[in-house]
Amino acid sequence: MTETILRGRVLSFRRRPEGVSDTDALDWFEDGAVHLRDGMIVAMGDFDRVAVPGVPVTDHRPHLITAGFIDTHIHFPQVQIVASWGAQLMDWLNIYTFPAETRFADPAHAARMAKAFYDLLLSNGTTTASAFCSVHPTSVEAYFTEAEGRGMRMLGGKVLMDRNAPEALQDTPQSAYDDSAALIDRWHGRGRALYAISPRFAITSTPAQMEAAGALIARHPECHVQTHLSENLDEIAFACSLYPEAEGYLDIYARYGMLGPKSLLGHAIHLSDRERAVIGETGAHPVHCPTSNLFLGSGLFDEAALRAHGATSGIATDIGAGMSWSMLKTGGAAYAIAQLQKRSLDPLTGFWWITRGNADVLGLTDRIGTLQAGTEADITVLDSRATPELAIRMEAAQDLKDELFALLIMGDDRAVVETYVAGRPSRPR
Ligand code: GUN
Ligand code: ZN
Repeated sequence: MTETILRGRVLSFRRRPEGVSDTDALDWFEDGAVHLRDGMIVAMGDFDRVAVPGVPVTDHRPHLITAGFIDTHIHFPQVQIVASWGAQLMDWLNIYTFPAETRFADPAHAARMAKAFYDLLLSNGTTTASAFCSVHPTSVEAYFTEAEGRGMRMLGGKVLMDRNAPEALQDTPQSAYDDSAALIDRWHGRGRALYAISPRFAITSTPAQMEAAGALIARHPECHVQTHLSENLDEIAFACSLYPEAEGYLDIYARYGMLGPKSLLGHAIHLSDRERAVIGETGAHPVHCPTSNLFLGSGLFDEAALRAHGATSGIATDIGAGMSWSMLKTGGAAYAIAQLQKRSLDPLTGFWWITRGNADVLGLTDRIGTLQAGTEADITVLDSRATPELAIRMEAAQDLKDELFALLIMGDDRAVVETYVAGRPSRPR
């Protein structure tokens, strides 16, 4: 049995805050503690109440202890194409992305990139992510093998793509089905791994492959589904031209049975209210990728309009179109995008989003995303004074909300003091 108590300023969320004064949404302990045993959280509260004689204490005071960050949309084979210059979505895919993904047929390359990928996630305090791997089963093998070695709860799957991509990145409807089914058998539910069926987007799948994807999804309701939707205007026009019978981009996915509470729809920017309503009715989840949307000039995600139609959205880096691995920076970018729409994402909601909010979207709040007793001990420790600019800003901070906002706007991996995965200190040094 391994057992330890973390002492610090403990922050967790009970639900989505209704605004910056909604402290009832928080579990907040100024001199707090989280008791970890065998990879699980067994207690959270005031230090005096949680302390147990004989159990060693790791003293993180005055740092913040929060649930590990969750990234609901990221691309494993895009580690090396972050900051690729000068293109919008379709050109960016053809010029940079597809050539980089071709290399993941090589198990040695995939294994080396997996090490870098998890080092970067954990350096940034991210303990769970849902990733698109490349089309090659080798990439999924590398992805889940490295996660298993680190004890991480990760979601992912091979992309399905049988057209509009280089030959070396194409599967077929049958091989996409068979390879995905074999990977589900091998990985889904093994340790902490969860498989996500991943038709990349309508443009790179023929109707026959979408049919196969729909059959796979129906056969495996235990798996998540992830894809891309309405990110860019040229992409939308191309997708709709390939499926003339569909009543719009979302309808393509609806026709093949891809929409449900386990579906993650990356980007979901340019939508009609009818499409927003369908997303809300099916329980599918849009995923906001703010730094990516700025980087590729894709457009402004409208979280409020989606929520008004009953849709709950995730938030994600979308590495390698994303500009940062940090979920803090990602929350900061979401704030800036909200400002462009005359709204202000408040700091409590920002922190909720990158932890419990994303766990809610994945349907995993019973396991990750909070510091509740009975959940898995994935925890991030943050130093709000980690850099000179944070330190001088924090001198003028009035309260917790100021501190959280400074972290969202100015924080990154330098603010992450430690990342616990299933109770074990796991931040790379
Ligand atoms: N649409 C289809 N594939 C991708 C991808 O890899 N990145 C982004 N940003 N959009 C996509
Ligand atoms: Zn993406």
